[in-house]
Amino acid sequence: MTGAGNQATTGVLGVPWSTGVRRRDDGVVEVGGVGVDALAAQQGTPAYVLDEADFRARARGYRTAFATAFAEVGTGVDVYYAGKALLTVAVARWAREEGLRVDTASGGELAVALRAGVPGAEIGLHGNNKSDAEILAALDAGVGRIIVDSLVEIDRVAALAGSRGLVAPVMVRVTTGVHAGGHEYISTAHEDQKFGLSVNPGPDGGDGPAMRALLAAVERPELHLLGIHSHIGSQILDPAGFEAAARVVLRLRAELAERTGVLVGEVDLGGGYGIAYLPGEVPLDPDRIAKDVASAVAAVCAELGTPLPRISIEPGRAIVGPAGLTLYTVGTVKPVALDDGRVRTYVSVDGGMSDNIRPALYEAQYHAELVGRTSTAEPVLARVVGKHCESGDIVVHETWLPGDVRDGDLLAVAATGAYGRSMASNYNLLTRPPVVAVSGGASRVLVRRETVDDLLALDLG
Ligand code: LLP
Repeated sequence: MTGAGNQATTGVLGVPWSTGVRRRDDGVVEVGGVGVDALAAQQGTPAYVLDEADFRARARGYRTAFATAFAEVGTGVDVYYAGKALLTVAVARWAREEGLRVDTASGGELAVALRAGVPGAEIGLHGNNKSDAEILAALDAGVGRIIVDSLVEIDRVAALAGSRGLVAPVMVRVTTGVHAGGHEYISTAHEDQKFGLSVNPGPDGGDGPAMRALLAAVERPELHLLGIHSHIGSQILDPAGFEAAARVVLRLRAELAERTGVLVGEVDLGGGYGIAYLPGEVPLDPDRIAKDVASAVAAVCAELGTPLPRISIEPGRAIVGPAGLTLYTVGTVKPVALDDGRVRTYVSVDGGMSDNIRPALYEAQYHAELVGRTSTAEPVLARVVGKHCESGDIVVHETWLPGDVRDGDLLAVAATGAYGRSMASNYNLLTRPPVVAVSGGASRVLVRRETVDDLLALDLG
């Protein structure tokens, strides 16, 4: 792969960049009509830059694709934006304005969604280890659903709802044995991870954890069992996993109805829709996945003789991932001789693993380009690294950059909107970058840059 062509191209940059990213004739890249040179001058670097129009279009795209596909088979869909990918007050508002609800995974995310004015009824609360305070905050906000993740939580949510004189709307999160991510999906008989309740029978061949939780939820007067929830993984590019999981969940729903007479009205099929991180990668197409899943759901319900449930999904990355890029300034550039005779150019930027932990944590691949100018210099094999005291502090493992890349150049990394800011840290006491939204030629700071004073204010000495 060489990036030489890319560096000199003008016009829309294309995948994996957001739709509002283009290179102007003067060589400077702009996002949402704002030049990165102006952004860097006004906001400094590193900075997370969010293309508002792109976010909104993807949110609408998912909502429309799923609403259309499921309307064709005769049921409705709610799309919950998974706030764990990136949640700020403005982002939650955008999601809501585009007709999405908001999925939260902690008291902090819940507080941001509420601050944004998202009605409690349109918020879900997840978590495998929710605190009493989080459950109470959710109940007090009147959340539309609490997704229960363990048998003990059935009792805890029931007790806390009882203490408030409320009936808690709950879903039970089950594990179907289907795990997906990347291009593959696997169906395993046994689960060895912390989330959800297994649909497998218990060791004695009797009811397994999922059925026991569903039966318990049906019986508790302080709980209203809305439905069953399944999330099979993240960055999934093959729809087969969603269909396999839907089959298992729908069978469980039918079995519960047979045994208790309670046919739950909702099934959530989770998030996990994959995106492109590199040029040439093909993201999951929401229209195609929606059609495939809708026809699988309809076929299984027909087979089982059960009416269709209302469906919900929880995409995070697919909405906000491509909408974001990270803007850095290049510092030290260092050629390093490799054992095989090649030279690798280490290009250090002013952030690193504190603003994007995904390369270090998952060996995630990203694409970078010089965005402040074009160059006709021969491309060199480059590794983009951060400024942390750690050799694993890699931003882009392997890429091609113009051979004249130098101190002061602006460099952007594509598709960092999801799980960049939301997983950022203060490692080496770096201050976390701002989140800057761009739209229609204007920029707006959604979350300001942290300062050293912020860090010192937390340290009580
Ligand atoms: N719903 C549930 C219950 C989830 O656990 C997740 C992600 C989502 C929805 C949203 O998944 P998405 O559509 O964004 O793939 N930090 C990792 C991803 C972990 C995702 C955890 N759960 C990463 O950076 O790739």
